[in-house]
Amino acid sequence: MELTKQEQAMLDGKEGYATRKSMEILVALGEIFGAKNLINVGSVQVAGVSYHNLGDAGLEFLNSLAKDGKVKVLTTLNPAGMDLENWRQLGISEEFAEKQNLVIDAFQRMGILVSCTCTPYLIGNLPLYDEHIAWSESSAVTFANSVLGARTNREGGPSALAAAFVGKTPCYGLHLDENRVPDVHVKVEVELSKISDWGALGYAVGKKAENKTPYITGIKTAQLDELKNFCASIVTYGTKPLFYVKNITPSADQQPIPKETVYIEASDIKNAYDSINDDTAEIDFVCVGCPHCSIKEIQEIVDIIQNKKVKKDVELWVATSRTVKQLADKRGYTAIIEAAGGKFACDTCMAVAPLKGRFNALATTSAKGCFYSRQNLMKTKMGSMKECIEAAVSGKWNI
Ligand code: F3S
Repeated sequence: MELTKQEQAMLDGKEGYATRKSMEILVALGEIFGAKNLINVGSVQVAGVSYHNLGDAGLEFLNSLAKDGKVKVLTTLNPAGMDLENWRQLGISEEFAEKQNLVIDAFQRMGILVSCTCTPYLIGNLPLYDEHIAWSESSAVTFANSVLGARTNREGGPSALAAAFVGKTPCYGLHLDENRVPDVHVKVEVELSKISDWGALGYAVGKKAENKTPYITGIKTAQLDELKNFCASIVTYGTKPLFYVKNITPSADQQPIPKETVYIEASDIKNAYDSINDDTAEIDFVCVGCPHCSIKEIQEIVDIIQNKKVKKDVELWVATSRTVKQLADKRGYTAIIEAAGGKFACDTCMAVAPLKGRFNALATTSAKGCFYSRQNLMKTKMGSMKECIEAAVSGKWNI
């Protein structure tokens, strides 16, 4: 890979240990994937924040970088293993909290914004169309590539951090036009009526498109929250963090419609629900906000939960970024949800919090949330916001 003088100096250690290590990571990646050079990135989003996933080895690695490493571009964090303020209320242990705080402290010393969200685009880390970025959280990467038209590979935690310290990433994969061409036409021949239908659609498209980039037709309208739900699902059940939707996502009209065609029919959506939903009537955990709730979704929860009470022995978590929660505080939404017995889970989510064995059965709006909760040994049910909140109130899944 060709390096500029400044890049070579960074690789030689002229800017210290963290930058040298970062250059080593970026050069190694670039060589593996045949990149010719490094390109500037406008922002970075770092996954691998939960102590639950990092462990002591990860914490040690971060501390070694934090000694002299300072990020060069706007860098935000993915969810951590706990709400950084109200972790006790969410049942997190003192030992875990202590370690998680050390992780956050290391990131903070690097100059990273402690945002802890998978929806950085809702709170100010909003890339421009065609901008090169280095993000790592899969749903955010898919949203950035497909809905915003920015360009990013699906970075691992270390390669995203490396990009942040250098301000650059190797130019390969989805940074290049030739790798952004759709190669399967997905004709959607079914109407979507609720938010979880978008998760089911993501499941169906992800499975049918396999490792190809879908060009989707047949969708007339889409809301931001629907697209963020779809992004999380398609990349969880498929592989490519990029898709086009005719008349909806940027530059779709400039792409050729691929010859190979697959169809999504009502039976595919039903199959998705059948695969995602387990056989359970009892619900003891309801978590909405995967990806993290927008203020509009919180408003919707308020409309449903007002004057109701979450059932005793059921936990309702509203997962969101702290920034959106602060807006909810100001608008009075937090007070209403908490008065009903719901809890805010800021900075964290059901996939990265240490939840294994704590709950038996989850209700959620998210197909991705179901995928990860099964790994946490829960049975899962996916439905609309109303169906989820009603499950929190009754402790039953009533569809
Ligand atoms: Fe976000 Fe966690 Fe879902 S990172 S997309 S809330 S699994």
